[in-house]
Amino acid sequence: MSEERRKVTVSVIKADIGSLAGHHKVHPDTILAASRVLAEAKKKGVIKDFYVTHVGDDLQLIMTHYKGVDSPDIHGLAWEAFKEATKVAKELGLYAAGQDLLSDAFSGNVRGLGPGVAEMEFVERPAEPIVVFMADKTEPGAFNLPLYKIFADPFNTAGLVIDPRMHDGFVFEVLDVFEGKMVRLAAPEELYDLLALIGTPGRYVIKRVYRKRDNEIAAVVSSERLNLIAGKYVGKDDPVAIVRAQSGFPAVGEVLEPFSFPHLVAGWMRGSHHGPLMPVGLKDAKCTRFDGPPRIVALGFQVHNGNLIGPADLFDDPAFDEARRLAQFIADYMRRHGPFMPHRLGPEEMEYTTLPQVLERLKDRFVKAELGYKPVIKRSEELSGAEHD
Ligand code: F6R
Ligand code: MG
Ligand code: MG
Repeated sequence: MSEERRKVTVSVIKADIGSLAGHHKVHPDTILAASRVLAEAKKKGVIKDFYVTHVGDDLQLIMTHYKGVDSPDIHGLAWEAFKEATKVAKELGLYAAGQDLLSDAFSGNVRGLGPGVAEMEFVERPAEPIVVFMADKTEPGAFNLPLYKIFADPFNTAGLVIDPRMHDGFVFEVLDVFEGKMVRLAAPEELYDLLALIGTPGRYVIKRVYRKRDNEIAAVVSSERLNLIAGKYVGKDDPVAIVRAQSGFPAVGEVLEPFSFPHLVAGWMRGSHHGPLMPVGLKDAKCTRFDGPPRIVALGFQVHNGNLIGPADLFDDPAFDEARRLAQFIADYMRRHGPFMPHRLGPEEMEYTTLPQVLERLKDRFVKAELGYKPVIKRSEELSGAEHD
């Protein structure tokens, strides 16, 4: 079969394998080490093409190939690239070298081992624009709000109303990352149910989006949550996403538009604070202030015969200057809360905490207080919420 008709797979696999000056930015030598591994694999025909980059302290491998999603060859290759980059990180004494490689043993798939993975397989259209989003200092649910706007909000995406190819809407696959369950919800019919879930982005994460009329894949997000994998703080998830654009999918401009609003996301400083998601070009893809604020980069490619043509650094544009300024303003506002919620995350979401030790130390000093009522504690979200007629 000709390459044009074969299904191509785009795999974005990322990991924090150590960085320069704390958790600030990836060292160029580790990018080189990973690139060498991928260049060799390209020469051997394992992958068709690749682009290696970084956002903040996360090393990003963007690859195309014909082996489908979850391919042991491709995941093994990414693992090898991260291992080689880790060697360099260790030689250079970079900070937190090897941090996201939670296991020494690779067994066919990097999912669950630490790296984040977003992959999609499709038959290339005659011209196939994609946008690869990469975020630092946040969690996978950070994509919930922008993906909702892109694929379900006509005030963002004009095409939902006026492009007949999109007018039927999209189907959202939502993961419950606590329970390991998944549900598909159709927009616009089930918008309110969809929002009831994805408004809790720490638990309900949009994993994939499909175009309803033909079930074509439109978007995919990495959903790995490191603290849920390791059971303790080991670094932030710093998710990635791939979105297809144009010709019956949202236009690139509709795909980027939600990021003109720097919404609040979880994951800033010690994975324990909310902050605004600042859209930046690659040159500003580094985290400084209070280890942030959280950043997001968008690289546009044309996928052509399996090759990655590009990238276009899409947020490197004065059109996003106001969003950056607003993000900085919000960052200042949030910072002034110091250790108080809602800047600091709730106790169940914090990745660093001393609360158990503090409570243990104070346990004999807590004395009975007369509240005047018997408190009824709601145990979970499912149980909470008053019933109104
Ligand atoms: C890492 C991150 C940082 C660290 C913080 C403390 O991606 O988000 O904010 O959590 O710099 O790091 P350690 O504990 O390594 O000193
Ligand atoms: Mg990071
Ligand atoms: Mg990190």
